[in-house]
Parts: sequence; C-alpha cells; structure tokens
Amino acid sequence: MTLTPPRPDLDAAPFDHHSPEANADPVAYYRRFREQRPVGWTEAHDGFWFTTRHADVVRIARDDATFSSERAPAGDRGISFVIPFGPGLEQYPIELDPPRSTPYRELVNPLLSAEAVEALKPMIARHTTAAIDAFIESGSADFVRDLTNPVPAAVTLDWLGFPTDDWKKLAGPVHDIFASVPGTERALRGVEGLMYLESRIRELIAARRAQPREDAVSVLVHAEHPEGRPFTEQELVSVMYLLVAGGVDTTTSLTGSTLVWLSEHPDQRQRLIDDPDLLDVAVEEFLRVFAPSQSMARTLLADAEIGGCPMKAGQRVLIPWVAANHDPEVFPDPETVVLDRNPQRHLAFGIGSHRCAGAHLARAMFGEMMRQVLTRLPDYRVLPESLVPYPTRGNQTGWDAIPALFPPGPRLGSAPAPTPVVSRELEVTEVATVATDVVAVTLADPSGAGLPAWTPGAHLEVRLPSGRLRQYSLCGEPGADTWTVAVLREPAGRGGSVELHELARSGARLTVRGPRNHFPLVEAPDHLLIAGGIGITPILAMARELVARGASVRVLYGGRTAASMAFAEDLVALAGDAVQLLPQDVHGVPDLAAAVAAVGPGTAVYCCGPAPMIAAAEAACAAAGIGDRLHVERFTAPAEELVVDTSRDVAFDVHLARTGTTVTVPADRRIVEVLRDVVPTLSSDCEQGYCGACETRVLAGEPEHRDSVLTEEERAAGRSMMVCVGRARTPSLTLDL
Ligand code: FES
Repeated sequence: MTLTPPRPDLDAAPFDHHSPEANADPVAYYRRFREQRPVGWTEAHDGFWFTTRHADVVRIARDDATFSSERAPAGDRGISFVIPFGPGLEQYPIELDPPRSTPYRELVNPLLSAEAVEALKPMIARHTTAAIDAFIESGSADFVRDLTNPVPAAVTLDWLGFPTDDWKKLAGPVHDIFASVPGTERALRGVEGLMYLESRIRELIAARRAQPREDAVSVLVHAEHPEGRPFTEQELVSVMYLLVAGGVDTTTSLTGSTLVWLSEHPDQRQRLIDDPDLLDVAVEEFLRVFAPSQSMARTLLADAEIGGCPMKAGQRVLIPWVAANHDPEVFPDPETVVLDRNPQRHLAFGIGSHRCAGAHLARAMFGEMMRQVLTRLPDYRVLPESLVPYPTRGNQTGWDAIPALFPPGPRLGSAPAPTPVVSRELEVTEVATVATDVVAVTLADPSGAGLPAWTPGAHLEVRLPSGRLRQYSLCGEPGADTWTVAVLREPAGRGGSVELHELARSGARLTVRGPRNHFPLVEAPDHLLIAGGIGITPILAMARELVARGASVRVLYGGRTAASMAFAEDLVALAGDAVQLLPQDVHGVPDLAAAVAAVGPGTAVYCCGPAPMIAAAEAACAAAGIGDRLHVERFTAPAEELVVDTSRDVAFDVHLARTGTTVTVPADRRIVEVLRDVVPTLSSDCEQGYCGACETRVLAGEPEHRDSVLTEEERAAGRSMMVCVGRARTPSLTLDL
C-alpha cells in the first residue's frame, strides 16, 4: 500500500489540532477551518486529512468498509491516541472494524442497555449521595477530586464487581490516563495506576471464574464467544480496561465542564433548579457542547473523495466530533448553549459501529450528579481563578481541579436524595375521543383533593406501567381541580401513546410528575400561535389564556384532515375569526412565511407541531429577522425524520440469520421491541431513528426506511436499516442477528 499524500495547499493555514491555538479554543479553531477550508491535508504528525463538517464526519464514521478504525501499522501518528493499547493485544478489540469487533460489542451491549442502566440508578444515587455527604458540611469542595472523578469511578468499579478498597485507589489513576503528558511525573503515576488496574482486573477475572457473583465481571467471564469458547483472559482484560478507562473520565469531564458553565451562568442554573425536568433535555445540549472526546481518526482502506478532496488508501483522516457538534448547518447558533435545544444529531457518542456503548450509563451518572448538585448545593460558586484545566493533547478536554464554595448543608446518610419534583398517582376520571386517534384524558386526585394550578404551555410527565416516561401538554382549564391531556395514538411511535390509549379507562391509575413549563407565554403586545396536529394542546391553553386577558392573538392551526384536528371547534368558539383552520387535504401545507411576514413589531410567535412545521417556523422567523421572538415546543424527532403514514402498517416476519429464529412484528409494534427479548445484545439509544445505534445489516427482504441516518443511496441499496423505526416492504426480512 503506497502512501501518496497530495501537495499541501501552501496558501492555507497549516492545520494541527494539537497546536496551542487549537487546544486553547478548539471550537474557534475548527470554525475557522470549516469556513475557509472544511476538508484538507496537513503535513503535521506525518500527514493526515482533516475534516470539520458534520456531514463529512458522519459519512466517514459510518463507512467502516472505506475508513477503518484499526490503527495504522506505523502506530501512533500523533493523531488521536490517548488511551493506551490493551495489554497483549494490538488494539482494544472493541475498536476493531466489524465483524472482528462484533463479539466484544455483543459481550458488553446487554450490560449497558437502557434497561440494565435503569437498574443501576439506585446504586448511582447511593454513590453520589455518599460523595456529596463527605464534603457538604464543610462548605467547600474540589468538584473534580470530591465528586466528578470518584463517583463515576466508584459506580463503574462497583458495577463491574471491584471491591470497595479499589474505588479510591483507582479513581485518581484513571483520571491521569487522559491528563498525562508523556515524560511527566503524572504520566508515570498514570502508568503505575494502570498497571495496578490491570493486575486487579486479572485477579478479579480469576476470582469470578472460580466463584461467580451478581456483578458484571461474572457475566463477562462466563459469556461465550461466538466461536463457541470462553473469552480469553487477555480479551477480557482489554474489554474491562476500556470500560473503566473510557467510561469514567469522559463523564468526569462532561460533568465538570457543565458545573463550571452553570456557575458562570446563574440564570441558566436557576432555570434547571426551577424546572428539574429540563435537565432531561439539557443533558443532550451539554453533551453536544462539553463532550470531552474531541476527535478520532480513521485509516483509508480504499481511495475515496470527501469534500472534493481525493483521499488515498493508507492515508489517515481526522474526524473531529467537536467540529461536527458545532456545525451551524446542523445546529443553528452552535456556540450558544441552549438548554432546551434538544440537539438530537450531536455526535458526543460518535456514530456508526463504533458508537459509544456506554451512552446510557454516562447519561445516568451525569444526570444523578447534576440532580444532586442542583438540589443539595444550589448556590455553589466555582472559583474561576483556581480552576485547573487538563493538560490536554488535543483529544480530551476537562478539568484537573474545580474548587467551589457553597453554604454548608446536611448529610443525608442512607436517606434518599431529595427529589425535586412531586410525583402523584392520579386517577383517570374521563376519556373522550376528540379527533381521529386522539383522546382527551382527564386526571384527578383519587382522594378528592384538588390539583395545583398550572400555566399555559405546561406539561405533565406520565410514567406508564411499562416504565416508559412520556410528556403531554396540559390542555384543560389551568385553575381546574383536574388535569387534562390529549394523546395522539401513534402506532409507529415508541409505544407510549399506544400504551396510554389502551389503558386510559375511567378508574385507571397513572403516576405523573409536574406540571412543568418549558413553553411559557411571554409579555408581548401581540401573539401569533401556530399549531400542527397534536401540537394544538399547549396552543389551546395559551389561546384560552390570551383571550381571557383580552390580549391580541391570532391562531393558525394545521392538520392532515379536519377530522384529525382536535379541539378545532373549541378554538373557534373561543377566538372566532382570529383562528385559521387549515386542514392539509384542503389547504395544503400552511404558508408560515406569509403568516410570519404579516406580524407586527413586537409580536411573539409560538409554534408546537411536527418537526417540519417547527423548522418552517424557524426559517420564516429567521428570514423575517424575528428569530428571537419565536418560542417552540418540540415533540418529535428532527426535521429530517421521514413523515410516515402508519395507518397501513401490516405485520411481517423477521428471520434472524445467526440463530435461525423467526419472529413476527405485529402492525402496531416495532422491530426493536419484538427483538429485545430474543436478541439481548441488540444496541439502541434514541429509538427514533436518528442516532444510528441500532443499525442492522439486512441479508434478505426489502426494508422500509423511516430513519434520518441513512443516505438516499444507502436506502436504495437496502443493505442495512435502523430497526427502531424501520419496517418491511416484503412479507419478511432476514437480519444479520
Ligand atoms: Fe437510534 Fe435506532 S436507536 S437510530
């Protein structure tokens, strides 16, 4: 294989993501290149291609056949190697290209699934409580030393099965792996710590082989390799090494950066304190902006062209997650942290076959640490002059020290951490069909006590018997003793609406939290309310309030057909001529550009509806120069998601080639739901078709794609599909499972 780098572009600034300039402000550094030279060759570090755009990064990361994750024979070219090699192996086996990595992925996936991580949450809360208990009475802490490093270390090591003694001994060295600069004393400490980790892993493997316990290591050592043999000690050491080294410090860094940012932005911190549910959404924005892993590299196995640049087999290419996560083509105003942005296409966990397997665990640890800090240390103040950032080499950001002060508080001991949101068990008192496939469900306190008042735009979080959590906007009277939500039955959704429709009968009990309001009315001389489909629910409550106030309001309400538009008559009765009903089969898609262009100065615009409608409202407001006056409530996947008609969905069979099993996917269930029991190794995350975690090879049959990951060519080829949303065009599919 010959390496023939093209002539460097002498006119362009040399690219080096390890340079002091890049380390000082990677986002600005990549922005400059993205704007001037989005893809290019640099002679730095023996020469490599760099990319900066989200689309290019996604394309490379998903194409294992062309862009190999396996390291170049020449070894470290100085591009992205911070994690040391697995002892005795050339490379961590999980980092190999599939199918070589598949046995190792399938080994860890069941341990890190959403359900498995859910079961770990009490343990995560316990460790977080204990860590904060240890310093809360003193009024000061170093968040890195006392919280963000020891908690992920204790959780990960406890989960794996390491004894308590090891948690403290290993937390510091794990942090040193990433922060160490070669040749420093700290690097030596890191190496010593890792040697200790390796020896402890080997001892633990031996102990659990002899006597299994209820821990993850016992599962790993007794699992069977697809070749019909146990995993070797060396394989297990390497897998566990990466679980500890890769999982702990990334969460440490993410949490640290978030704590620092919230100290610098007390208004945003207050929003999270006032509205704890907002953290569930904000975590994705924090991941987008503060994900510590900056970049990875791939080696070309064949010639390719990216961004008009001819890349040759054997060359290296950098895929910077940090650049992709700040690409304005995908994330408007990318350098602003917007707590309720919900940036579903961020690449904090990567994408493709090498996507981080520990995403659910990372979110759970981050969420619990943040939740307890915001409830137990709400007034903490980071001391900016004492912050110590990582001595990074350009691949990992984070902190060595985050000193903070706060009013001392009480230890909790074994008491549960305070829960900031009230949960209630409510009884369904009325169910009414208010449009095709839409029911209005009224809830009351079974004791007869009234329920708190709420403000228009507020929503409830409903915990369904299956464990699913769903948010529904309140649409009744804000001052009434009961709460009413309206739910559209979506057979192709993630199952929550179907479940709620099935159980919503008078007398049924539901656990709800809230109300919380992410979508409040603002003071304005005039209001334009835009609703699409079931997005009418908060808009109805807003219209009712504005009419009652005598405020100036206009409502534009679109839906597929008149019959599908819930509350249309109520709305007209309420606001008369101020309401425009626009069923799509009669009027086509609402012209939001015209509606927005007609608003007066100071008009506040609100939009709740499907993603394409919100995207259209955003575009219209941006074009009219009033983007800052638009308020949106999202309830579906991003605009790229296919809008599908699920009413004609039918059942089909799925053959699993590796096991020979055949299962039937009913019309109202998704492949991933049906497979969860029979293929516990199946990976999934978003379950809405945008993260790529569940991509599965199709060996026979024609898939019907409903995701926003695959390109048009990939859809046409039909060689893989996202099983969380996709279905079959043929009576059966054969999957490589
Ligand atoms: Fe995210 Fe399927 S789980 S695309």
